[in-house]
Amino acid sequence: MTAKLKPNWAGEDLLSRFVNLLIQTKPLYNIMKRQARNTMIATAEKNGIPWRETYQKLDRSPAKSLLPEIANSELPYPEYYQVPFHAYNEGNLCWKAAFEAEPATKAIGLRVWKGENLTWQEAERRMRGAFHDILGEYSPPIVRDILDVGCSIGMSTSTLHHYYRQRQQEPVRAVGLDLSPYMLSVAKVRDEKGEIDRWVHGNAEKTEFSDRSFDILTLQFLLHELPHHASKAIFQEMLRILRPGGILGILDNNPKSPVIQNLPPALFLLMKSTEPWSDEFYTFDVEATLKEVGFEYKTTIASDPRHRTIVAQKPIEN
Ligand SMILES: C[S@@+](CC[C@H](N)C(=O)[O-])C[C@H]1O[C@@H](n2cnc3c(N)ncnc32)[C@H](O)[C@@H]1O
Repeated sequence: MTAKLKPNWAGEDLLSRFVNLLIQTKPLYNIMKRQARNTMIATAEKNGIPWRETYQKLDRSPAKSLLPEIANSELPYPEYYQVPFHAYNEGNLCWKAAFEAEPATKAIGLRVWKGENLTWQEAERRMRGAFHDILGEYSPPIVRDILDVGCSIGMSTSTLHHYYRQRQQEPVRAVGLDLSPYMLSVAKVRDEKGEIDRWVHGNAEKTEFSDRSFDILTLQFLLHELPHHASKAIFQEMLRILRPGGILGILDNNPKSPVIQNLPPALFLLMKSTEPWSDEFYTFDVEATLKEVGFEYKTTIASDPRHRTIVAQKPIEN
């Protein structure tokens, strides 16, 4: 039997179309949205992630006052970004999403190893650690500049930065880029020691960076929030700003994961109702598109039971 490429609840399958119909039924969608939120908060708090406390702490922090200096008021937002995400009507463009992103991110790892009673810290270390180990195998011996694309509140940026700092004696400069100035304001507050060089408000499809600026680029949990055309445009931009021989690392949900393919209906309904680009993501051929835009495709590895790591390199002669 050949392995299934994606879950039946995503794409053009009958089940998927039925799920989409349910989601489009407004009253039902509103109930699901509320349920998704309550489930997320309850699971997090049960596992020692202080959801409400974190929210209140950030609400009292200088995050809001940082917004004017971080936000680029000229930056246009693409249409696909201005839709509800994760049960927030304004998607990633609001304080509520930004203040809840830390506990929500801490809960990601816990879902991977449900049966093992891990703390969120152990689960996060395993999940990111597996990604870093694979990335490290393909990285140039000395890495000077890294960019975390779709960095959100900076958890992926800090762990990536620590990984490369420990790997070499030479200093490493890290930059985080995101389209939400709310997320970036929280990232800046969380980066108490100022270890990250810059938090940049920008669209990954067309950035402010010069050609050949970075040795390592990562897209961690970004692609599942995008339609095909945006992912392809981002790959083209990544190729431009990478140095020849530089590495692009992608971590995201694995469409081939049996755990994801066999999610119980309540869970995939919740997932699809809060992730508007699920159908596009689960039917997107990442590897083929990377090759098409000019990357040298290296590997795809199921780095944990739910996620996969994809690595590509900018050709040396480019
Ligand atoms: C799920 S979060 C990423 C989480 C983070 N990288 C981590 O691993 O913890 C996805 C982020 O991508 C950002 N994003 C979505 N589209 C983008 C785009 N075109 N350019 C830059 N950032 C984008 C969103 O604002 C959001 O903060």
